[in-house]
Amino acid sequence: MRHSVGHPLTLAKWTGASITVDPVKAIAIQQFGGPDGLAVVDLPTPEPAAGQVVLATEAIGVGGVDVLIRSGALAAYGFEEGHILGGEVAGTVTAAGADVDPSWVGRRVWGFTGVGGGYSEQAVAPAASLVALPETLSAVDAVTLGSSGVVAHFGLRHARFAPGESVLVRGASGGIGIMAVQLAAQAGAGTVAVTTSSPERGARLRELGATHVLDRAGTGEDTFDVVIDVVAGAHLPEFFAKLKPNGRLVAVGAVAGDPPADFGARLFRTFRKSLSFATFSADTVPLADRRVVTAELFAAATRGQPAAVVHDVLPLEQAVAAHRKMQAGEVFGRIVLTVG
Ligand SMILES: NC(=O)c1ccc[n+]([C@@H]2O[C@H](COP(=O)([O-])OP(=O)(O)OC[C@H]3O[C@@H](n4cnc5c(N)ncnc54)[C@H](OP(=O)(O)O)[C@@H]3O)[C@@H](O)[C@H]2O)c1
Repeated sequence: MRHSVGHPLTLAKWTGASITVDPVKAIAIQQFGGPDGLAVVDLPTPEPAAGQVVLATEAIGVGGVDVLIRSGALAAYGFEEGHILGGEVAGTVTAAGADVDPSWVGRRVWGFTGVGGGYSEQAVAPAASLVALPETLSAVDAVTLGSSGVVAHFGLRHARFAPGESVLVRGASGGIGIMAVQLAAQAGAGTVAVTTSSPERGARLRELGATHVLDRAGTGEDTFDVVIDVVAGAHLPEFFAKLKPNGRLVAVGAVAGDPPADFGARLFRTFRKSLSFATFSADTVPLADRRVVTAELFAAATRGQPAAVVHDVLPLEQAVAAHRKMQAGEVFGRIVLTVG
């Protein structure tokens, strides 16, 4: 069903853009809860504020965080019904705001919209986030590699990963995990172990650089220098036992929700192993630094590594179907929405 509603104000709230009256198609959260709470809506064409550009979108990445926002699980962080999902897009710049180099207009780029506004035919992004697309990189591959690669790259750096060390990626089958596996392997990890729910996924992760495949509980005796954890949730503290002395566990996501309230106490009980626990959010990395790394990843991808693992490509109007696939846990890699 298509609605014409007052969501432009919500878009403007998250992006700071002003709005005019030509309608563009977008996907809004009509109601928190299941995928059916998403609806196609008409929005006025956004106009870029100072420092921003507007992009005619070609491809839009669907992230695990979109599922959490849609469910209402992140309402405490200020997300409201009416929100337009989508943090990364690729397309052509159609307008540039004040203080933006006008030569961006007409160029094909990847852009980071932030916490929303991406599921739209026209998206607003800070010019400071833009990365020109290499000629041989598709828009679909760009939104598969971009944000996930940034989180994986800086997550490994936050963990002080060094070549030769062993890494366990917990929740390796999603966009971030797949990039963490590939980047750790390419950076010279001695071991790249993964947790996953099926042997088939394990086999695919081995093709991407995993050397050891564990079940979701991480069953086995091996220990690791670094755990990159996309999952968190009730079982996070059990992974302290998977760390070697001086090991570091970095939580880069929480697809299974918050860890239990006593997780700090359980970390403390491992005192004599000198372990470290940290969260990592790419929000703490300056846009300029993220942009450099994204451009490097794109250039490397045109040479074949890292691979962009695309689970499925669906038209923007089928965002509900995309979210159903995410909800069902059937997505390996990235699901991408396309326009046009
Ligand atoms: N740090 C940052 O800056 C940043 C940026 C963006 C997003 N995020 C966060 O990253 C997360 C999404 O990442 P993503 O898109 O890569 O993940 P995802 O695709 O949603 O999930 C990753 C994998 O985790 C496994 N999994 C799912 N539920 C699980 C459970 N209950 N217990 C154990 N394993 C489970 C699944 O693989 P198997 O079935 O194979 O086990 C799934 O494919 C969100 O929490 C989001 O908020 C963080």
